[in-house]
Amino acid sequence: MGNGHRKWFVRKGVEPTELELKVMECERRGYIVPSRKLIKTPEQIEGIRESGVINTGVLDLIEKEIKIGMSTEDIDKLVYDYTVDHGAIPAPLNYEGFPKSVCTSINEVVCHGIPNPHTILKDGDIINVDVSTIYKGYFSDASRMFCLGNVSPAKQRLVDVTKECLLIGMEVAKPFGFVGDIGFAIEQHAKKNGYSVVRDLTGHGVGLAFHEDPEVCHFGKPHTGMVLVPGMVFTIEPMINMGKSQVVFSERDGWTVTTRDRLPSAQWEHTFVMTEKGLEILTY
Ligand code: MF3
Ligand code: CO
Repeated sequence: MGNGHRKWFVRKGVEPTELELKVMECERRGYIVPSRKLIKTPEQIEGIRESGVINTGVLDLIEKEIKIGMSTEDIDKLVYDYTVDHGAIPAPLNYEGFPKSVCTSINEVVCHGIPNPHTILKDGDIINVDVSTIYKGYFSDASRMFCLGNVSPAKQRLVDVTKECLLIGMEVAKPFGFVGDIGFAIEQHAKKNGYSVVRDLTGHGVGLAFHEDPEVCHFGKPHTGMVLVPGMVFTIEPMINMGKSQVVFSERDGWTVTTRDRLPSAQWEHTFVMTEKGLEILTY
């Protein structure tokens, strides 16, 4: 690669920082490095953090209010009202035509379930509520699972192991490590527990837009993919299936993603910032 194609280079008369020198060295070795735009400034990170506080407030509210007998539309209304009352915008609303403020995905629905008044939460359901917030132009994104009433031990274990997958992915992500380290660790943990990882949907950079680079696959090889540079902000959001990994995209509503074998799926998500010490959660 010629110098002209480099993303990072020493600017005339500007002393490069230690971080810049390290990234340039990674690029020289042929690793995929983030563009400068993906490295957030301290001000941008504070903005995303504030957005994350509201996003967490929404999820805490849902955790308090969710119950058997309510509709997914009721969840949508709680999300919309809380978000707007806090001066923010629900990021999903009108995003590429998505009609609601939140994604609600029950049992075999993997993700992107659309809230509606006819879908009523039942005893034994597991549901992912995926909340994304825009505040002062900054985006945050997180989701949790909720277990309603008497959930079978098998479904409960899926929910628990999926949360472990998220935390393990977070732990292995090191500054100047690789995106592939995350996916590798997650898939290992899922497989060890007899589960499969959804491959058609990924985590993503986030902050100045809903979806930025890099793609964060929940499978992969260590020491591959983009270098994790301090200042990068991205999600990890493993979707783990009890059965096979294949999914079906709804042709009817254009959004709902379901497991092909109709067995349950679970997902947990946080937005993180890479620091000098490792990942910090911005949606706690
Ligand atoms: N919140 C999802 C994610 O984690 C994206 C949902 S897009 C929507 O990336 F339009 F369905 F909201
Ligand atoms: Co996301």
